[in-house]
Amino acid sequence: MTASTDHLRPLLEKLSLEQKAALVQGADFWTTVPLPEIGLRALTLSDGPAGVRGPRWDEREPSLNLPSGSALAASWDVDLAYRYGAAAASEARRKGVDVVLGPTINLHRSPLGGRHFECLSEDPELTAELGAAYVRGMQENGVAATPKHYVANDSETDRFTVDVEVDERTLREVYLAPFERAVEAGAWSVMSAYNSVDGVTMTENDLLENPLNSEWGFDGVVVSDWTAVRSLDAVAAAQDLAMPGPAPAWADLVDAVHDGRVDEADIDRKVLRILLLAERVGALEGADAVAPAPLDGPAFAKEAAVEGTVLLQNSGVLPLDLAGLTKVAIIGHNAKDARTQGGGSATVLPEKVVSPLDAIRAALPAAEVSYEIGAVVQEGVAEIPLASIENPVTGGPGVRVSFHGADGTELFAEDRRATALVWFGGDAPIGASRTIVLETRYTPAESGEIQLGFAGANPGRIFVDGELVLDDVPVIEGTDLGAAFLNPPSITSAVTVEAGRAVDLRAEFTRESRGALDGALSVTLGIAPERTDPDELIARAAAAASAAEVAVVVVGTNSKVESEGYDRVDLDLPGRQDDLVRAVAATGTPTVVVVNAGSPVVLPWAGEVAAIVQGYFGGQEFGHAIAEVLTGAAEPGGRLPTTWPAALADVPVADVTPVDGRLVYAEGLHIGYRAWLKDDVQPAFPFGHGLGYTTWSWGTAQRHDDTVEVTLANTGEREGKQVVQVYAERADSTVDRPARWLVGFAVVHAEPGRTVTAVVPVPARRLAHWAGEWVVEPGAYTLRVGSSVADLPLSVEWVQA
Ligand code: BGC
Repeated sequence: MTASTDHLRPLLEKLSLEQKAALVQGADFWTTVPLPEIGLRALTLSDGPAGVRGPRWDEREPSLNLPSGSALAASWDVDLAYRYGAAAASEARRKGVDVVLGPTINLHRSPLGGRHFECLSEDPELTAELGAAYVRGMQENGVAATPKHYVANDSETDRFTVDVEVDERTLREVYLAPFERAVEAGAWSVMSAYNSVDGVTMTENDLLENPLNSEWGFDGVVVSDWTAVRSLDAVAAAQDLAMPGPAPAWADLVDAVHDGRVDEADIDRKVLRILLLAERVGALEGADAVAPAPLDGPAFAKEAAVEGTVLLQNSGVLPLDLAGLTKVAIIGHNAKDARTQGGGSATVLPEKVVSPLDAIRAALPAAEVSYEIGAVVQEGVAEIPLASIENPVTGGPGVRVSFHGADGTELFAEDRRATALVWFGGDAPIGASRTIVLETRYTPAESGEIQLGFAGANPGRIFVDGELVLDDVPVIEGTDLGAAFLNPPSITSAVTVEAGRAVDLRAEFTRESRGALDGALSVTLGIAPERTDPDELIARAAAAASAAEVAVVVVGTNSKVESEGYDRVDLDLPGRQDDLVRAVAATGTPTVVVVNAGSPVVLPWAGEVAAIVQGYFGGQEFGHAIAEVLTGAAEPGGRLPTTWPAALADVPVADVTPVDGRLVYAEGLHIGYRAWLKDDVQPAFPFGHGLGYTTWSWGTAQRHDDTVEVTLANTGEREGKQVVQVYAERADSTVDRPARWLVGFAVVHAEPGRTVTAVVPVPARRLAHWAGEWVVEPGAYTLRVGSSVADLPLSVEWVQA
């Protein structure tokens, strides 16, 4: 329901044109302009969405790192998504944040999409239900959610300029559907995307007015994606707040009103919406926001990770036989250095991450657990562990960072606890600094040659004990400064070190202007992986597997594969990981593979291993969740929110590269499993698939008004979770339709031997198609019910009058 802003008009009337023009654009990277004259404090916005970073990108102010979007969607659990939003609200308040920039509800149109990990699913219904629950969970705890990016920002290649060509019906039924549901859930804010749709950039696109405002009744604030406001044309469009600010494109807003290029009424409308948002989050005097519910962050992060872990296949080796196991081999780079989140703006800095290696070791106290890296996954430098660096000024662990002006004067200094540093907001005077210097004393744990270096977009020099060892200028590929900034290239030099002998490291970076991102900076002083012969690493892993009763191999992607600002080029696991898994499996030791990736990867050895667990980017408690699932302390709760391909060549919609600036969604409604069904190609694992540790028998399905009631029984020996999925089919459709489409789902839990009833809401609107308005074709529909799009034992007819 659209809220009235009449009561805010008196405040609006107190403001000068200059004040209003300032309020509709940010004050800086993350805040809006305060106007104490009318009792308005600054609003603080922050990424999001898998936890809340806060206005500073700073390891000294850590955040709860929740599982990524694709893992959340794998839970298929609306209640969990609600609590996930609530948890993020609690984090937001702890960090002084009013508006969280999430959830990301673009779709998994192609598994190559670089931010696939951050989005929920390939299916609009699953995305819509979970996205709406996230919004409710967050806002009922007093913090604004910002579903993003409106709309058709489903891949990253040329994301600032790409013009997505998509027909109206597809837009409505597929890409707008999750936003429509988020607005129905009451979203107080929505983020407009960088891209264009059908020729018009989204910050100026009519889609902001219709359907968002006029048809759906959105009464919140359209926040631009960062720097997405490009001209004054966005003022007449329903683009309410230009971020960050002050926005260059709106620099002469006041003059534009005076000379008639802009209508002041358009600015007033934006101001009223911003005031309403401020009132909702408690930023306006006299309005208190709801206080968030208390949160046990790590406990919730672990629960969410377990619920999002998908058991893809299992010969019976899982759960592990705790009593019988005496020797277990754990293998894989990601077992030790797990990736708990994807890269880019979604990054949060957790206080503590639990690795699968540590957690599995702890869960198997009686067994002898060996570890081998097996294959190198990391590309480029990784930060130097805190335990081995000493700040030369404080003597404590960490690094001294100083900022110098063009004349060499020190402008500012800070003591940090990490050598991978990002300034994107915060106190450091980045814009005024010419040189940034990192100083630390590093004590290596082992003797030998290390690949010392830096990652950043600026020229850098590294000195070891005063001697220059590296002086280079990175080559920035592509034009996405965001990508260069958030995932910059690495340059290294070989340096010989001695275990236990400390060396003084000094890194100097010469800052160059970055246009719209001036004032932001990212630098890492770090060490690239050692260059051990890859065959030797695999041989050592195979030997460890041979000596064990079970081998657990954790494979995964790295920060260069899944991040923001670019798409993936293939679906392969990086490095020699496929060879590694094959070599381990060939030893004959039962092999369990845990996949640590936010999006599908090709698993060509699937038929050679005993079990595969897809753990996604499981957040800071990833290790504990994996250990609990492997040992059976927890039931793997996940079901695939996206079809899992056996090979890239099979993927029906793989094209993410614009031609002449245009990306044509030629497949129309048929993305994800809809496209696989249309092409009649078998994936490795279908949409909705996931195993548990018990067995089920499906009973009956009946329709009652707007619900489908399904009975099913747990026929196994353990308590279990099942996700009851309902798909519609329409044999005699007069319009193009997917062969089958998801119309509802519900999670059930049952004790062994118990029969339960799942009540799945399926309103008639789920059968509708868009023909200039929503139309439900009269006639017969078949609703098919089961545990995945490919396993549907029950059905019920629905005759629509
Ligand atoms: C991303 C948004 C993010 C914003 C602020 C943009 O580059 O696309 O998702 O919220 O930056 O960090």
